[in-house]
Amino acid sequence: MSSQELLDKAREIKEKAYVPYSEFPVGAALLSQSGKIYTGCNIENAAYPVSCCAERVAIFKAISDGESDFTEMAVVADTERPVPPCGSCRQVMSEFFNSDTKINLTNIHNYTKTVTMEELLPFSFNSSDMGDRG
Ligand code: THU
Repeated sequence: MSSQELLDKAREIKEKAYVPYSEFPVGAALLSQSGKIYTGCNIENAAYPVSCCAERVAIFKAISDGESDFTEMAVVADTERPVPPCGSCRQVMSEFFNSDTKINLTNIHNYTKTVTMEELLPFSFNSSDMGDRG
């Protein structure tokens, strides 16, 4: 599975986005260590805060399927700059990704910026910060 193929999957699922409020579709595709791909699109709600971003839909699908090791994620949106994942998604990504997991962020011009998890969310809160309780 190449990064280009992962991006193609993200583009494909972006068409399924349920975005009657923002009209801003986003697609994400997540590659597991086992070679499986989990895709996600954003799904909005009339009660706006209940909406879920594409990245989290993909991650939650993968986790609920028993996957826990991931190597790469692709995210695509019709943005001018490479689409920056929101803060909530960064925190969820940091729960399940390694610091060197690659995240490829693509814009409307098909330009991709690749960042690692550590670059996307440095100094992140994690279970080790809770000591024995984590
Ligand atoms: N959104 C995502 O799905 N992922 C991102 O990286 C940025 C924002 C969604 C949330 C909402 O449905 C819409 O884009 C506008 O914020």
